[in-house]
Amino acid sequence: MNLDKALNQGVAPVTYGTGERPPRGDYARARADYTCEQDYAQYTEADHDTYRRLYARQMQQLPGLACDEFIDAVRQLGEPGHIPHFDDISERLLKATGWQVVSVPGLIPEEAFFALLAARRFPVTDWLRKPEEFDYIVEPDVFHDLFGHVPLLFNPIFADYMQAYGAGGLKASRLDACELLARLYWYTVEFGLIATPAGLRAYGAGILSSAGELRHSVTSAAPKRIAFDLQRLMRTKYKIDSYQASYFVIESFDRLFEATAPDFTPVYRAVRERIAGDGEVEAGAVLSGERTFS
Ligand SMILES: [Fe+2]
Repeated sequence: MNLDKALNQGVAPVTYGTGERPPRGDYARARADYTCEQDYAQYTEADHDTYRRLYARQMQQLPGLACDEFIDAVRQLGEPGHIPHFDDISERLLKATGWQVVSVPGLIPEEAFFALLAARRFPVTDWLRKPEEFDYIVEPDVFHDLFGHVPLLFNPIFADYMQAYGAGGLKASRLDACELLARLYWYTVEFGLIATPAGLRAYGAGILSSAGELRHSVTSAAPKRIAFDLQRLMRTKYKIDSYQASYFVIESFDRLFEATAPDFTPVYRAVRERIAGDGEVEAGAVLSGERTFS
């Protein structure tokens, strides 16, 4: 697909998965690249209070469960007393790693998303969940996007990984491989674990912004924690409506970056051949000979 054309077709809400409800967000205010101004005036005192309570609850859980890189950077989000101004975060982020945070009205199409990442611009939904969604929300909101994703963008290696992912995504669109690549995002950026000398820690945004999954992912006996292997990961299905049954564990951000740096064209081919022969791997399955972490 021609990218310029795709990005200038005008904007419309998009849905992923099989939800009945259309996604929230006022797409009429989005530009052709799906970014918009952060509508700061929309936030009520109740919103700031919800944000404050979400932030406090997650911060208190981080020690011993979140990776040090995340804990070291999370305060770069600024004073937790109110929903941050994205421009303030961008100013700090730009100096640290050359990234910026940009506002979007909600979920955006894959190609627009990849194009923003490739340009070191991280899209953050600007609306906040309702108080009744305090414990669980279906779509990403400002808390998930900021608290979950932005701290690690202050880490130079992870910042490069995210840009490479965006560039890889634009290529995957041309190779009709977005579904395989989406699994890499899911099992690293959203639900990744990292092995450290102090034990397993979380670095994925879906885990770090979740009230219950942070402890579950690191300490529960229920899920399988499998050593990262790119092709194995790309064969693995995932669940979107419950805690993950499988997590993939990386050794370091350096190793993750190295493992995902080569051209994926032969990787997609190999994964497709393997799926054609042996099928996909169910979430929660462990294959013979695989290294797992308890
Ligand atoms: Fe996310």
